[in-house]
Amino acid sequence: MTTVQKKAVLQAAAAHVRRKCLKESSGHDWSHIERVHRHALRLAREEKADLFVVGLAALLHDIADHKFHGGDTEIGPRTAAAWMKRRRVPPETVAHVAEIIGTMSFKGGKDRPPMRTPEGKVVQDADRLDALGAIGIGRAFAYGGYAGRAIYGTEGATLDHFHEKLLLLKDRMNTRAGKKAAQKRHAFLLLYLKAFEAELAG
Ligand code: ADP
Ligand code: NI
Repeated sequence: MTTVQKKAVLQAAAAHVRRKCLKESSGHDWSHIERVHRHALRLAREEKADLFVVGLAALLHDIADHKFHGGDTEIGPRTAAAWMKRRRVPPETVAHVAEIIGTMSFKGGKDRPPMRTPEGKVVQDADRLDALGAIGIGRAFAYGGYAGRAIYGTEGATLDHFHEKLLLLKDRMNTRAGKKAAQKRHAFLLLYLKAFEAELAG
């Protein structure tokens, strides 16, 4: 594909996804996609990853999340692949982007094999960063509310999610720059949890 064609595909992907998730209210809305996209491109430059693959994977990574489709983990990569094929994206790029989308979720955590390519590594890091820091806290409670969870105190409350998942992320980052950014956001989570506990105790 020429640079001009790639640019057109990326623009179409952004427009398509934006239309689909504008009203999303579980923290997987268009602003999440935009942030992941922006961060992934920044990491991609440092890691010398292919910007077309990274751009497509970042824009399409939540196009059909299995959490909202009865646990069908193939639906994301399949939906993304179908969209890319319609846009005449070359088969090897389609396969690469679909592989990234299919393997990047932090569900499955430790047991998952590490991302295979630099492109996968940066997009996964960017997605994880968005679950950390001030924005990550906002998203966790947005997701919790969406899923009918309590803020704290009962089983499955959102505050547990911090300990079960969010605080583990900083040690699972793939890239150097990703790790550094994650540490900063991790420190803010700790500060937040401390304040939370202090308020409860006070
Ligand atoms: P991925 O899409 O990478 O598997 P998730 O969808 O599990 O990641 O997480 C995306 C966002 O939703 C994160 O910000 C995360 O904190 C939030 N989230 C996921 N599960 C929960 C949960 N059980 N409680 C609170 N927030 C959650
Ligand atoms: Ni995401």
